[in-house]
Amino acid sequence: MVSRVIPVETFDLVIFGGTGDLARRKILPGLFRRFLSGQMPPEARIIGAARSELDTAGYREMIAEAVAEFGGAETNNTKGLQAFLERLDYVAIDARGEGGWAALAELVRSDVVQAYYFSVAPALFGDLAERLHKHGIASAQSRIVVEKPFGRDLESARDLNRTLAAHFDESQIYRIDHYLGKETVQNLMAVRFGNVLFEPLWNNHYVDHIQITVAETVGVGGRGAYYDKSGAMRDMVQNHLMQLLCLIAMEPPGQFEADAVRDEKLKVIRALQPVENHHIVRGQYDAGKDGPSYRDDVENARSFTESFIAMRVHINNWRWAGVPFYLRTGKRMKARSSEIAVVFKDLGHTIFEGDEARHRNILSIRLQPNEGMDLQVTIKEPGPGGMRLIDVPLDMTFADALGAEAEDVTDAYERLIMDVIRGNQTLFMRGDEVEAAWRWTDPLIDGWEARNDVPKLYDAGSAGPEDALMLMHRDGRKWREIKG
Ligand SMILES: NC(=O)c1ccc[n+]([C@@H]2O[C@H](COP(=O)([O-])OP(=O)(O)OC[C@H]3O[C@@H](n4cnc5c(N)ncnc54)[C@H](OP(=O)(O)O)[C@@H]3O)[C@@H](O)[C@H]2O)c1
Repeated sequence: MVSRVIPVETFDLVIFGGTGDLARRKILPGLFRRFLSGQMPPEARIIGAARSELDTAGYREMIAEAVAEFGGAETNNTKGLQAFLERLDYVAIDARGEGGWAALAELVRSDVVQAYYFSVAPALFGDLAERLHKHGIASAQSRIVVEKPFGRDLESARDLNRTLAAHFDESQIYRIDHYLGKETVQNLMAVRFGNVLFEPLWNNHYVDHIQITVAETVGVGGRGAYYDKSGAMRDMVQNHLMQLLCLIAMEPPGQFEADAVRDEKLKVIRALQPVENHHIVRGQYDAGKDGPSYRDDVENARSFTESFIAMRVHINNWRWAGVPFYLRTGKRMKARSSEIAVVFKDLGHTIFEGDEARHRNILSIRLQPNEGMDLQVTIKEPGPGGMRLIDVPLDMTFADALGAEAEDVTDAYERLIMDVIRGNQTLFMRGDEVEAAWRWTDPLIDGWEARNDVPKLYDAGSAGPEDALMLMHRDGRKWREIKG
């Protein structure tokens, strides 16, 4: 199998926050890999912009170090790195000041694709959008990329949408959710809509329930102050888990095109039932051998913020009536693992006498680690001794199926940035989607805040609080094991 790299058009990409953690850890190492692959054309340029008083040489040095640290296997390519660094420029700009904008206007070319990545705090989005126009830099063709968090509730998300809409059309705005850039997430759509096998079964006649787990082993780290005001619901469920849920549950779009896909996702969010209180379990990690408790991490001894949440969700439509979707995400869990599992119903009748075990088909879609899918099927245990049945996975781990090519699976950020340059918004969230997600999330958060609900403690390195296990057990089901 030979993979094809189709170069994108020549571009100027300005990264506001070009000296920040995200730019150094993800955006620039990702662009370096796209440069080496030939997808980023040699004439394209990247312009870092931030307040730090650096010159272009200093910025190139900073990015060389970042690529060495975060660039992966490609970092040994010194010739390639040199050529990449030559594509970098830097302008010192304060989003709230007036200095530097004229220099930026001089640098950005009007005859290539222009993209502006707002890799800064959302409070600066309005300042950047306004100044890009005031200084005549952005045009009706320019694209802007904005990062999460997109608001902390419906009202703030609406404000952000209004702020951006004052200067840019929706077709110019790319709201990043990097989960949507993952290879497996796109493969999920290929599996659903590119095969005849699954779609006929993808409904409440055949699916018993669906589980979505995003488990992290890390704690809140250095993000304590931000995280404590956010929690797992705002930080993970409202965006990443919601997007995964949409892709699993949506109706087939008429075509694989940005608005057709996003219209279908929006319908899923709008069809979500309010979640009953007893179908939500919030948790907070306790101190363990390997680290302090959540409250110590965030330096707030009275924090009621959740670092874990599990919930049972229902979608009010014809396809999914009666099918529970169980979502869970947490920090300091036993393994780093993200998985969607579609658990099909039991057979109505078995013809195999003496086989008491429960056999189920399960389609498991792994986002990390080892991106891939497997389908659990029931077969006869090999050998003599009658018809004993066992469940085995039909494994579609990309690394096995695609060999060396799988190692080259593009990181989510790289893919998404290339989509921005191509002008393809399919894998980006539309403003109304984000607002609809907050409209569903807000009353749940308001509910536990008004009640002063205290999250349940769970051991670091576990699968979350006991109550989360009970959420499934009460329904006669159980969570899939969290495996790294
Ligand atoms: N890091 C991640 O993994 C991650 C993941 C998802 C989303 N995000 C989001 O991405 C954005 C950036 O995150 P980050 O982790 O890179 O933050 P960061 O490390 O704090 O970097 C912030 C960047 O913004 C620049 N900056 C701050 N104030 C500025 C101003 N007034 N004018 C111009 N530039 C200014 C900073 O440079 P100077 O100090 O030199 O100005 C720096 O380059 C945030 O919205 C964050 O929520 C980050």
